[in-house]
Amino acid sequence: MNNKIVFSGIQPSGNLHIGNYIGAVRQWVKGQNDGLNIFCVVDMHAITVPQDPKTLAEKTREISAIILAAGIDPDKSLLFVQSHNPDHANLGWVLNCYLSMGQLNRMIQYKEKSDGKDFVSVGLFDYPALMAADILLYGTTEVPVGEDQKQHVELTRDAAQKFNSKYGQTFVMPAPVIPKEGGRVMSLVDPLKKMSKSDPNPNGAIGLLEDPKSARKKIMSAVTDSGSEVKYDWENKPGISNLLEILSQFSDVSVTELEKKFAGQNYGQFKTAVADEVEKFLIGFQKKYAEISGSGKLDNILKAGVQKAYQISHPKLLEAYKKVGFLGQ
Ligand code: TRP
Repeated sequence: MNNKIVFSGIQPSGNLHIGNYIGAVRQWVKGQNDGLNIFCVVDMHAITVPQDPKTLAEKTREISAIILAAGIDPDKSLLFVQSHNPDHANLGWVLNCYLSMGQLNRMIQYKEKSDGKDFVSVGLFDYPALMAADILLYGTTEVPVGEDQKQHVELTRDAAQKFNSKYGQTFVMPAPVIPKEGGRVMSLVDPLKKMSKSDPNPNGAIGLLEDPKSARKKIMSAVTDSGSEVKYDWENKPGISNLLEILSQFSDVSVTELEKKFAGQNYGQFKTAVADEVEKFLIGFQKKYAEISGSGKLDNILKAGVQKAYQISHPKLLEAYKKVGFLGQ
């Protein structure tokens, strides 16, 4: 038995795209046989910026069903919604009192997200304390995150350290795990930028729930490079390299094999093959998604998920409560 405990938090906002699938969701699915893997849809983090209530509720369901459709098995992994487990807010409050204004003020994401806004919520500033609670409640050893979240995991470690040195060993020190290069998907209109859900140009990204025909068009009109050879060369051919990466990920054929296969073929023929593969993937994925979201089982899966989560988180919360001097009941 492996003692690895992996915690991933996913915000229910924006549309997940094939870049998120290849770079993150697919890696989670591959890792779910190793240790305990926890997936939390962080709706409480989402409201740190304005949200439309109806959309937030829909997105929370949508992202949960996407995770399941991608292959996360609720019998092996934990999947639940953050606001269903009150322990997160409760430990978040305690950690608030052990983190300083100065520490939170150094968070780059806070600076970026608050820059130029008329209204900046206290929640946005305090976001990392809640994230620290998410992680520390479960004895998490690994947090798979993008570069942008690394600083928040470092802060989580600082909070754990502060609490542990004051009250004795309570929280496990988590480590951020940044996915290796490779499997990185770039924008279809600017292959020097990452595929992004906030890209103002809708042709840059392909949503997981997007019409497969529209996805096909986006691939066919993706920016390519000068020359005519299908070569994996990020420096000189970022557009083609990006498409090779996408094709390799969806077809499970190595990039080297693909280069051989498309030797002598032109960009048009190559793009058609990529478009076919992406279209096939989306059709299959969306079928599973429709089955899950139409099955009426989602709410029960989330309910069972939070029950299991609570069994782990609650003793940890009570341990922390006791250490700070709260009366047990
Ligand atoms: N802040 C993360 C993001 O925006 C989401 C998140 C919340 C998270 N809690 C977490 C990620 C705990 C990892 C672990 O992407």
